[in-house]
Amino acid sequence: AKIVDIINKAETIHSLTKEEIVDLLRCDEYDQQLFLAADRVRSQYVGDQVHLRGLIEFSNICQQNCFYCGLRKENTKVKRYKLTPDTIIDLANKAKSYNYKTVVLQSGESQSYTVADMQYIIKSIKALGLAITLSLGEKSRDEYQIYKEAGADRYLLRIETTNPKIYKELHPGMSFENRLRCLRDLKDLGYELGTGCLVGLPNQTMECLADDILFFKSLDADMIGLGPFIPNADTPLAQERGGTFNTSIKVMAITRLLLPDANIPATTAMETLDKNGRIIALQSGANVVMPNVTEGEYRKMYMLYPGKICVNDTPKHCVGCITGKIQGIGRHISTEFGFRPKQKINK
Ligand code: 5AD
Ligand code: SF4
Ligand code: FES
Repeated sequence: AKIVDIINKAETIHSLTKEEIVDLLRCDEYDQQLFLAADRVRSQYVGDQVHLRGLIEFSNICQQNCFYCGLRKENTKVKRYKLTPDTIIDLANKAKSYNYKTVVLQSGESQSYTVADMQYIIKSIKALGLAITLSLGEKSRDEYQIYKEAGADRYLLRIETTNPKIYKELHPGMSFENRLRCLRDLKDLGYELGTGCLVGLPNQTMECLADDILFFKSLDADMIGLGPFIPNADTPLAQERGGTFNTSIKVMAITRLLLPDANIPATTAMETLDKNGRIIALQSGANVVMPNVTEGEYRKMYMLYPGKICVNDTPKHCVGCITGKIQGIGRHISTEFGFRPKQKINK
C-alpha cells in the first residue's frame, strides 16, 4: 500500500499490520504527514493539556548490569547515593508546590530500601494528595501488591526491546520471561501500566521496532515511554552508534496512532539529541512531560547516558522553562491527575 494510505488507515482504525509499520518506519518521505496525523489523534483523544509528572531520581544504586546504562552495577565510576525517606517526601512536597499532580519515584533496581521504607514513603506522599508512579524495576508480585495497597497508582517498566535475543544479549542475569511476568502482575494488580523501548539498540531492526509497537498495543499499555539509545562511554556499548532522533519520534508517532488514548511522554533522551526535542515530540503525539525535581549534585549522579538535559538546573528553573515552552506552542498545563481516559475508546 502507499504510505499515505497506511497513515490514513492508522489514523482511522488505530490498527496496522507489522508489514505496514515496517513500511512506515523505512520510508522517510511522508514523515511530516505521519507526525501531523499523530498530533491530530493526540488532540482528539487526550486533548491539548500536557500532564507534568515530577521525576524524583531517589537512588542510583543498581544491582543490574544492563549493557546500555550508566548506572549498571559494574560501572565503578558512578558515586552511588540514596536519599533518605524524609528527603524524598520533602521533594514530593516541593513537586506539589510547583503544581505537579504526580510524582514519579525512580531508582536503580536494588534492595537498598526496605519494603517498610517504601510503604512509608508511598503513604506519606499519598497523604499530600499526589498521584504516585513507581519506577523501581523488577520486583515480586507480593512487593508490587504491597506498594499498590500503600497507594501507588502507576508503574513504569520498559520492556526495552521485545526481541528475545537482543534482550538476552543486553541484560546479563535477567530474563525476558520475568520482565513479562512483572508487566502482567502490575496490570493484574490494577496499576496503570507504563512500558516502552529503546530505539537504536545494536542489531535492532525496523521489524523489531514494529514488534515493540505491536507489543504495546497487545499489552494495552496505559503509558508508553520511548527514547533513543544514547551510547554511554562507561558501558560495554560505548562504541555503538545509538538511535536517531527521527526514528524515535516516528516510533512514538506510530504508537500514538495505534494507542490513541495512551499517555505518552516527550522524553528527556529525545531532548538530548535535539534541543527542541520535547516540543517536537509534543507536536508529534506526546502529551506528557516529566520535569526533573531531583536537586543539586544528585542530578549529575543519575547519568543513564551522556548529555542528559537539566543536570545543572534547579527544579524551580525547570518548571518555568517547560511551562513557557508548552504555552509557547498553544498547549496548556493540565490541572488534573491525567489518568488514561479509558472510557473514551471503544475496544
Ligand atoms: N540511552 C537512553 N536511554 C537509556 N536508559 C538507560 N540507559 C540508556 C541509554 N544509554 C533508559 C532505559 C530505562 C530508563 C530508565 O532509562 O530504557 O528503562
Ligand atoms: Fe539498573 Fe535500570 Fe540502568 Fe538496568 S536500566 S542498569 S536496571 S538503572
Ligand atoms: Fe530543565 Fe528546561 S526543563 S532547563
